[in-house]
Amino acid sequence: MLNNNKLEIARLIRIEGMDQKDIYNLISIPPDNKMGDYALPCFQFAKVFRKSPKMIAEQIKDDIKDKIKPPIKKVEAVNGYVNFYVDKLFVGRTLLANIIEKGGNFGDSDLGKGKTICIDYSSINIAKPFHIGHLLTTVIGSALYKVYKKLGYNAVGINHLGDWGTQFGKLIVAFKRWGDRDLLEKKGVKYLNDLYVKFHSESEKDKALDDEARRYFKKIEDGDKEALELFQLFKDITLQEVNKVYERLNVRFDSYNGEAFYNDKMQPVLEELEEKGLLTESEGAKVVDLSEYDMPPCLLVKADGATLYATRDLAAAFYRKKTYDFHKCLYVVAYQQNLHFKQFFKVLELMGKDWELYHIPFGMVSLEDGVMSTRKGKVVLLEDVLNKAVKKAYDIIARKNPNLKNKKETAEKVGVGAVIFSALYNNRIKDIVFSYDKVLSFEGETGPYVQYTYARCNSLLEKADSIMGEPDYEGINNKEAMEVVGLLEKFPESLFETIEKYEPCYISRYLVDLAKAFNRFYYRHRIIDAEPELKTARLMLAKCVKTVIGEGLRLLGISAPAKM
Ligand code: ARG
Repeated sequence: MLNNNKLEIARLIRIEGMDQKDIYNLISIPPDNKMGDYALPCFQFAKVFRKSPKMIAEQIKDDIKDKIKPPIKKVEAVNGYVNFYVDKLFVGRTLLANIIEKGGNFGDSDLGKGKTICIDYSSINIAKPFHIGHLLTTVIGSALYKVYKKLGYNAVGINHLGDWGTQFGKLIVAFKRWGDRDLLEKKGVKYLNDLYVKFHSESEKDKALDDEARRYFKKIEDGDKEALELFQLFKDITLQEVNKVYERLNVRFDSYNGEAFYNDKMQPVLEELEEKGLLTESEGAKVVDLSEYDMPPCLLVKADGATLYATRDLAAAFYRKKTYDFHKCLYVVAYQQNLHFKQFFKVLELMGKDWELYHIPFGMVSLEDGVMSTRKGKVVLLEDVLNKAVKKAYDIIARKNPNLKNKKETAEKVGVGAVIFSALYNNRIKDIVFSYDKVLSFEGETGPYVQYTYARCNSLLEKADSIMGEPDYEGINNKEAMEVVGLLEKFPESLFETIEKYEPCYISRYLVDLAKAFNRFYYRHRIIDAEPELKTARLMLAKCVKTVIGEGLRLLGISAPAKM
């Protein structure tokens, strides 16, 4: 992102043989701001102009000193540098006015105009519990999706459902033998999981069950009515359940085309591979040999004709390119699948597809209190984690603010927000050990801390009714307020960094910095009981902080309560 002050400076300066961009790139930020906020070193011009850098700096200064205008307030020549001083108050004033005018649209951009980004995230498995292992893909993907949209891209959110595999044949058999529709509707995925477990214990005694399951799986593939109906039922039940969680996390998708969707779309891809001579036979199976690239072969068709996860991903990439003509396609999937993505990207590359596909890996989440995971069996349900966090948030809120109305809704926002925020606070690739007490702390680098700061700004603004009268910007002419202003100005940067590195933690960390800076200001300066004009300026600052925190949290999928 371009720096406006530097741009302003570059516009002032004329040097033969250099354009504005060259000059812009030469302008640096001095390590000590006693030497100005920006500096142009003149050493490299000495040869061309046959003058000392010192003289050149003087000359440039003389040329422009009458032309400077805000935000630049002063220019000096010192030892071969032209130093520039910025009128911070002017910058602050302009920025606050800008944020107040734009509201939540502050930071919007048309950077991505005309570009489509496909994002494959969450991608849960049908008939399997939505467990904590899917938290990171869901919230990272969703945050990227929202940031891309804010920056003007056409983002397409794709839930590449795991809805294909022999397990669905097993489930149908189990359901037909032992299942009960009413119970299924009542107990949901948990019931499917129980049926699945039962199938496995029974099939140890009765091998015929496995054959039956295979037959039913084949029936699904062949489009048999009964089999498809049951399969669809399992799918609906699962989606009903996960959609409740998605709603709590503020997560949306544009497409739920999962693995099964590609059943009839793999053949052309396999043919193209065949034509290009990339497919080799290995013990009856069809593979793409990748030994040249130090990778195991990419298995695409098994000896019995069955296709694989990778075959479907290939077909999906083709389909997405054709349907969306994406600029980039991102796959937010755990690092355990590194090899899978490396292999399938390589296969596409060998096919001559120079598409921009990126695997966005992330680490593992485990719980500090192992109690819950053992009691429930191995998996920790995401829903249980959210419920527990909400309950704890409720207790904290009831203790801290017993008179608060809507405690329940507030606890939902705080509890769920705390879980999301902690998931997005570190670099993706780090493993996370999740502790309820830590993520729910109102102090420290947490969601509740940021939300609390939002509520604090809100209550300041409420107490003051509305911002009235002409502000006196002396109210923000102090170190603490200027620090807040400096951070507000950097909000757009945190968005660019987020999509450049695919790391929403640029936003979460930014929000903690902003909240901390605002709280320093809040403790150091009177606001509500300051003189009216100073108060107005300070409330404007609070309003902008509220706006930016609210918008930043929204991008992360977190709601901000007005009071807490
Ligand atoms: N369903 C898979 C899993 O839970 C993730 C799918 C990721 N997306 C993809 N296109 N491979 O592990």
